[in-house]
Amino acid sequence: MKGRGLVRAGVGFARPGGWRALLSGWRHRRLDARDLPAHGAVRARVPGMVVDAEPRPGGGVIRFARSELRIRVVTGGAVFWGWDGAGPEPSYALSGVVPEPDPRATLEPDKDGGWRVVSERLTVQVSRDGAVEVRTPGGVVLRRDLPPRWWEGADGGPARWTVRSEVSADARFFGLGGRSSGPRLRAGTYRLWNTDPGRTFGPRDDPLYITMPVQLVVADAGTHLAFYDDPWDGRVVLREGVEGAGSGHDRPATSAVHMDGGPLRCWVVVGTPARVLSRWTRLTGAPAAPPSWALGPQHARWGFGSEREVRRVVAGYRERGLPLSALHLDIDHYDGHRVFTVDRRRFPGLPGLAEELATDGVRLVSIVDPAVKAEAGGTVYDSGVAAGAFVRDVNGREVRGVAWPGVCVYPDFTDPQVRSWWGQWYEERLAQGFAGMWHDLNEPVSFSVFGANTLPRSARHSFEGRGGDHREAHNVYALAMARAGYESLRRLRPHERPFLFSRSGWAGMQRYGGTWSGDVSSGWPGLRASLSLVLGLGLCGVPYSGCDVGGFDGSPAPELYLRWFQLGAYLPLFRTHSAIGAGRREPWEFGPDVLEHARAALLERERLRPYFVTLAQLARLTGAPYIRPLWWGFPKDRALRDCEDAFLLGDALLVAPILEPGVRSRTVRLPRGRWYDTATGRVYEGPGQVVVDAPLSRIPVLARGGSVLAVRGSDGATELEVWAPAAGRKGGGVVVSGSGDGWGRAEVERYTTRLVDGEVRVKLIRGDGAGPPKRPVRVRGLDSVR
Ligand code: GLC
Repeated sequence: MKGRGLVRAGVGFARPGGWRALLSGWRHRRLDARDLPAHGAVRARVPGMVVDAEPRPGGGVIRFARSELRIRVVTGGAVFWGWDGAGPEPSYALSGVVPEPDPRATLEPDKDGGWRVVSERLTVQVSRDGAVEVRTPGGVVLRRDLPPRWWEGADGGPARWTVRSEVSADARFFGLGGRSSGPRLRAGTYRLWNTDPGRTFGPRDDPLYITMPVQLVVADAGTHLAFYDDPWDGRVVLREGVEGAGSGHDRPATSAVHMDGGPLRCWVVVGTPARVLSRWTRLTGAPAAPPSWALGPQHARWGFGSEREVRRVVAGYRERGLPLSALHLDIDHYDGHRVFTVDRRRFPGLPGLAEELATDGVRLVSIVDPAVKAEAGGTVYDSGVAAGAFVRDVNGREVRGVAWPGVCVYPDFTDPQVRSWWGQWYEERLAQGFAGMWHDLNEPVSFSVFGANTLPRSARHSFEGRGGDHREAHNVYALAMARAGYESLRRLRPHERPFLFSRSGWAGMQRYGGTWSGDVSSGWPGLRASLSLVLGLGLCGVPYSGCDVGGFDGSPAPELYLRWFQLGAYLPLFRTHSAIGAGRREPWEFGPDVLEHARAALLERERLRPYFVTLAQLARLTGAPYIRPLWWGFPKDRALRDCEDAFLLGDALLVAPILEPGVRSRTVRLPRGRWYDTATGRVYEGPGQVVVDAPLSRIPVLARGGSVLAVRGSDGATELEVWAPAAGRKGGGVVVSGSGDGWGRAEVERYTTRLVDGEVRVKLIRGDGAGPPKRPVRVRGLDSVR
């Protein structure tokens, strides 16, 4: 890159800026001033008093003086309601099939003049003035939405709306997409507008690349998920509750959702955390299971610069006996940063390189940016112009922005024809030998020196033919791009499960693939932010993600790099990555000790590969994220609810990363049950708090007594690692295998474990009873029990 016209952003890397970004920002502002209605006088509206109600399948329509409310309870513990005639569709979040109304749900008048819909798993109570309460069948209130308010522009512009909700004082909020300070969301304002922060981020930088109006609320009264299905810009203001506030009464925790437009409609799902995620991913789509190779260690860098360098890095792994599954090529392998091109001088033989790496078991993954350089003669640009693929303004002129290649245009992924047009280009990537796609800059980003670094809000989008502007399209842009990529890969390689992950997205993005943290800053706070993001996204239904191990910028100290690496080894996407100009991230660049400890982490990840395959398949089948907060099985345990520095990996393991320098032991909060320190074999009984060793060589990992997990044995075959259950207690586990990288049916094996006369008995549950396990069994922890 040339030195002039660059704006520094963060340490060690730079983005095109200068006059181009200045001009582009100014143009965008001018377009919006010309094409968006100015806010004129506004009128506020509330529903008013109830008038009448009419039963419909699953609930009914309740009419108020100035609005109407549709309620539909669906089977399995979820309810939809929409104001002003809003129905569940059209929606970018839903997976296509709106669930059937629950035929047993009934609409009944309430003695206070309101109405209620009664069903097996929940009751929805609507007050005379339009407050909506969700209650358990026992009558405990889980959520109370106060009557909404709309602000309507006199000019007919979109109505802004607000809903304030109350939940119990002890409730904790999670979710809202990928947030850097969490996973428990404290009091504060969280914007709903996918945003590239324009530099590296740490805790408290908000919003980031993925925002979603999805909140998971965990309280003594129960767990629920609320989703306001509206992609417009907005914000959520959270306030934590106070138990026994003033005169002994609780002050409820509250969430106020303020949206700049769009439908006011909401889904609420109730149940245990596992049930809620299962129901939620049935609504918005089963999480795509990555091919099994994408569950292995991956290495990326912006600025490998040449085939030679790629070979050097891969050889570095091979020669040191370090496993590596994939290597990612960033924008520097493109010709002048143009998407779907190759710099033939520095990468003269990509397909050959891909083949060569494949012999070492290493796949190539390609970055794919949505912005297309606006230049007549450019193959992608010319083809896009002919297809009418690019976002336009009100007058039908292409909207231009600035991205890595310079002045760019942006495909309109909300147009089905544009999705297929874009999808064709993945053939070029596959022909170059790439096995997976890494979507980036799809918030979408247009570099700007001031104002918003995205498209103008007035830019027009197709919305599957119905028409709209960027205010509504912005947050679903990356989701629709992921759909284009995923559907195309399925068409082009019908026998392989696509590998796709995307920096930005929205509710439902898990249908197409995963994500990663984006440009997390290299430092201990960045490490903590990474964990918060991955955990929070899992609770929004996006189970496959990870972070840039080592941080995106700068040069991490060896200890920080190592602790990051050790955490990364237990995250679904385990990938080192860094910016151009940042320090090296190969495990051998930090001295012999770090290399040995990193090797141990890599080998352990490989040993756990069958367990990760199981977790990927379980996420697809049940929506349960691979990594889960400690309260997952015990949402009523308040101490666990507030514990943010450890997590469960599936059912069997508890991982306690080291998030601070100089730490060689740490306290770990344990959920109920028996836990073994997998390194020392020491046994602990939960619930409670224990101190465990955390030498530089490893982070603490505990195994649940009685659990069964699939691991790779020394001969490469999958075997069962079984942790002895406590006397008189049963345990068990699930192994899912058999689908490889294709679409074959996944085989589910269920095991139970029991301690009988000092021996651990493991049984495979079958339709016709129980039988011996199908695989070799290695029992652990018995010495500690005896
Ligand atoms: C963005 C991505 C980062 C990538 C860089 C260059 O900053 O988040 O991962 O390396 O762009 O493509």
